[in-house]
Amino acid sequence: MKIWEDEKQVYIRASMERNTPEQNAALKERLEQIDWSILEHIQRKETVNERGVFAPLEAVEVPEIEARRDEFKAAGLDAIRAGKVGAVLLAGGQGTRLGLDRPKGTLNIGVNRELYLFEQLFRNLMDVTDEAGAYVPMYIMTSNINHKDTVTFFEEHHYFGYPKDYVKFFIQEMVPACDHEGRVYMESDTEVAMSPNGNGGWFGSMVSAGLLDDIHARGLEWINVFAVDNCLQRIADPLFIGATIVSGCESGAKVVRKAAPDEKVGVLCTEDGKPSIAEYYEMTQEMATARKENGDLLYGFGVILNYLFSEKKLEQIADARMPIHVVEKKIPHIDLEGNMVKPEQPNGYKFETLVLDMVHMMDDCIPYEVVREREFAPIKNLHGVDSLDTARELLKGCGVTL
Ligand code: UTP
Repeated sequence: MKIWEDEKQVYIRASMERNTPEQNAALKERLEQIDWSILEHIQRKETVNERGVFAPLEAVEVPEIEARRDEFKAAGLDAIRAGKVGAVLLAGGQGTRLGLDRPKGTLNIGVNRELYLFEQLFRNLMDVTDEAGAYVPMYIMTSNINHKDTVTFFEEHHYFGYPKDYVKFFIQEMVPACDHEGRVYMESDTEVAMSPNGNGGWFGSMVSAGLLDDIHARGLEWINVFAVDNCLQRIADPLFIGATIVSGCESGAKVVRKAAPDEKVGVLCTEDGKPSIAEYYEMTQEMATARKENGDLLYGFGVILNYLFSEKKLEQIADARMPIHVVEKKIPHIDLEGNMVKPEQPNGYKFETLVLDMVHMMDDCIPYEVVREREFAPIKNLHGVDSLDTARELLKGCGVTL
């Protein structure tokens, strides 16, 4: 059965009733190109996260990092100077919680002057490239929705002083979004409401965009992938890179010490012997509160979406299927009468793969502790928790003039 023949699909059918035959012919063509099996994940949304056996994973903690600073730093800088390190900025999200109608990275985080989120991230990177005396190629993932605005913004701001040759954009794939009953939303009478397919598909999207040739030509061996919204993010951090290389692991994850046993962060641990991230809602009370002999939490380190992956390993897992997460979000769409609706509350599901699931595809991963106040200021909302307000305070605390 074609999707538009399904009586349940009221939004598609209502649009088709309003469209001309020509419009419908074009719409049908587009509808046929979409893999609708994705909707089946709604039934499986409780079981997608059926997990194996979790066990704690020792982190490289701050005192050890301080003691081995010179060793780690030298190894990291060597790798950067040898041109082995690239970075991927995940900026394909829609930032629905922030409610901005342009790319999140274009947010002005300054108070008395202009300081854009993208700009701050490039400054952070340039701290490293200045010290190394070598540039790190930066690949920026966008989506169809924000690609043009993102590229234009970088052009207008002259890449914030970073050499343009070292910056490349690629576009991630889109998937349909639907209401809580699995009825696909329409964005207009001729377009399905599509949304970016999550941040887990970044390497596959790079491959589709033909960037593997660029990665090979540059000889990249390590890729540091990170989120757009943490303005204190350290990018291509030599210590982190060095610690991962020295450990012999094929991946590393920056982590922060949990503030409290019930803090809502995903914790880096092992699952059936492989590295994995246990979401806060997947942890039993016992797991969340268990302590080591020294009093520290046994599952004590949360991920901050800053990972280092071996490029070789990424290629090996590029075709592997990733779990699809069904995520409740606010989805703008047209109602049955054709009126635009911009919901205030989550009104349906998007389907996303997540970069954190990549960690479980690695044979090993080193949790690398960073100090929260220095490296973690995510901007998810305008006010309140993880917001522009809290990030500004944290930036000031790190000596950034706003
Ligand atoms: P979030 O999970 O916070 O999602 O993304 P979001 O879309 O930015 O914001 P909300 O949930 O709608 O408010 C974490 C990181 O992953 C990127 C985001 O740009 C951010 O850097 N991301 C997310 C993508 O690159 N693509 C996606 O499809 C989703």
